[in-house]
Amino acid sequence: MFETLADQIDLSDGKALLGLDGRVAVVTGAGSVLPGIGNGRAAAILLARAGAKLVLLDHDLAAAEHTREIIESEGGEAISFAVDVADTQDVADVMAKVAAIHPRIDVLVNNVGIAGPGGHADVVDTEKWDHAMAVNVKSVMLVSRHVIPLMRPEGGSIINISSGAGIRSGHPALLYPTTKAAVLHMSRAMAAHHGEDGIRVNCVAPGAVNTPMVQSRGMDEHLRELRVERSLLKTEGYGWDTGMAVLFLASRLSRWVTGIVLPVDAGYSTASMAVATPPRFD
Ligand SMILES: NC(=O)c1ccc[n+]([C@@H]2O[C@H](COP(=O)([O-])OP(=O)(O)OC[C@H]3O[C@@H](n4cnc5c(N)ncnc54)[C@H](O)[C@@H]3O)[C@@H](O)[C@H]2O)c1
Repeated sequence: MFETLADQIDLSDGKALLGLDGRVAVVTGAGSVLPGIGNGRAAAILLARAGAKLVLLDHDLAAAEHTREIIESEGGEAISFAVDVADTQDVADVMAKVAAIHPRIDVLVNNVGIAGPGGHADVVDTEKWDHAMAVNVKSVMLVSRHVIPLMRPEGGSIINISSGAGIRSGHPALLYPTTKAAVLHMSRAMAAHHGEDGIRVNCVAPGAVNTPMVQSRGMDEHLRELRVERSLLKTEGYGWDTGMAVLFLASRLSRWVTGIVLPVDAGYSTASMAVATPPRFD
């Protein structure tokens, strides 16, 4: 009789199936630009509900603290730190504090991302370009370099948040899709580098989810309807949808999954030109 996965893992219990109870998960950008549920906050709350102990990182400490309060009010465990994930020294200092509390880390969600400057190559502000490249791309490397040694030797799961804008062309700006495509391919490269250490690296590419970030950038009802209409499922997506994809990739459910890009977009990235309308805010 061959041994199957069901002989190694209890597949009968939902929480046990996720395998996150008591694990340590770091989420960057774990706050949200406005009160409400952004992608990082949703991921952090869902990981905590699965039993993980959360480390919440954000340059807006009050926003991270708000996420911590939500988690604690539900009986979960979380600590939060202020950090600019684009700053090499700041990340090193904070991760030293994190390592002193949690010498082992199981999950890292590199969620921080900003829209950055608008404009095409001929007009984009070069200083803002450098800053946004650091926030969206360098930060993934910076935080990962401190977490990877803490995931060895048992392994772990790194989830990088890209965007549909990193998959499709046609975004009105140059900076944002460039950085999001970089995050996407970094994830594949990192999956190859760290697979032998049992570290899975995957990427989630949310589509036009309705989060406080897009609301803060002036989304009106018309645009909201357009965003729904262009998807195959004709339904609105939220930070929770991104969070659920993160939960899957963090959990044991995806133990044999690495190097993938998971679009969470109600099918928009696979839709034909006939149903697709120009992308905005994703
Ligand atoms: N909202 C969408 O429709 C959408 C779509 C696709 C991808 N995404 C991606 O999802 C991620 C999160 O988006 P969101 O909509 O939840 O945004 P959000 O702005 O609500 O949350 C991001 C958090 O990151 C923090 N942050 C920003 N710069 C930081 C820095 N330098 N150091 C530390 N923290 C920093 C902010 O304070 C904020 O709390 C981003 O990577 C974004 O590109 C969003």
